[in-house]
Amino acid sequence: AALVVAVDGPSGSGKSSVSKAVARRLRAAYLDTGAMYRAVAWHVLQEGVDLADADAIAAAARAMDLDQSTDPDVERVAVGGVDVTAAIREDRVTETVSTVAVVIPVREELQRRQREAIAAAGRMVAEGRDITTVVAPDAHARVLLTASEEARLARRSGQLRRAGAGERDAGTLHRQVAGRDARDSTVSTFDRPAEGVALVDSTELDFEQTVAAVLAAVED
Ligand code: CDP
Repeated sequence: AALVVAVDGPSGSGKSSVSKAVARRLRAAYLDTGAMYRAVAWHVLQEGVDLADADAIAAAARAMDLDQSTDPDVERVAVGGVDVTAAIREDRVTETVSTVAVVIPVREELQRRQREAIAAAGRMVAEGRDITTVVAPDAHARVLLTASEEARLARRSGQLRRAGAGERDAGTLHRQVAGRDARDSTVSTFDRPAEGVALVDSTELDFEQTVAAVLAAVED
């Protein structure tokens, strides 16, 4: 039977690793919608699109040939046949992604592709910033995953280290995360969950406890 789980949350909330673990547990597919916005950002940088030209960004997003793995055990994103799995995590992409993500026709295009992917998969955990509210408001389970800013910064720092991005000082990291949160706040705010959305605050939870809390929301 179809089973759709929607998970939203800010940067460093742990939503990607938690959502993947939940997908494995439910034998469901996994959709990283942030990777799709990152792919658009990579694509416009690659094509030399003027970042001040919203129409050009929207046209590039619509024309983008995106191939993304929905297997929680296989991380692969390709644009126009080029493997960009690692490239979309680079700083230049992270710095550009909110600029493309606030372009309404870009969001509409990706939201359409996301709904298609969810319908095609049937069983899917989809993760992002507007999944519980816009992409899949009728999902079987909807969760907002939050954590204190301190916990989010610590996790983000660990992620970058594991990705081989090297150490960066606490001030730089704080500026980067706070800057992106501020730019993303026009897209979504995480001050409180929308009606019917379960709140999971992972500040005091370890990874397994957080996964269990999301699974509990699915069983409700
Ligand atoms: O790196 P982090 O996990 O914080 O973010 P991500 O999930 O990879 O998403 C990257 C960016 O894509 C966000 O900062 C948003 O600008 C945008 N995004 C969005 O606008 N809507 C979504 N559903 C997912 C991501």
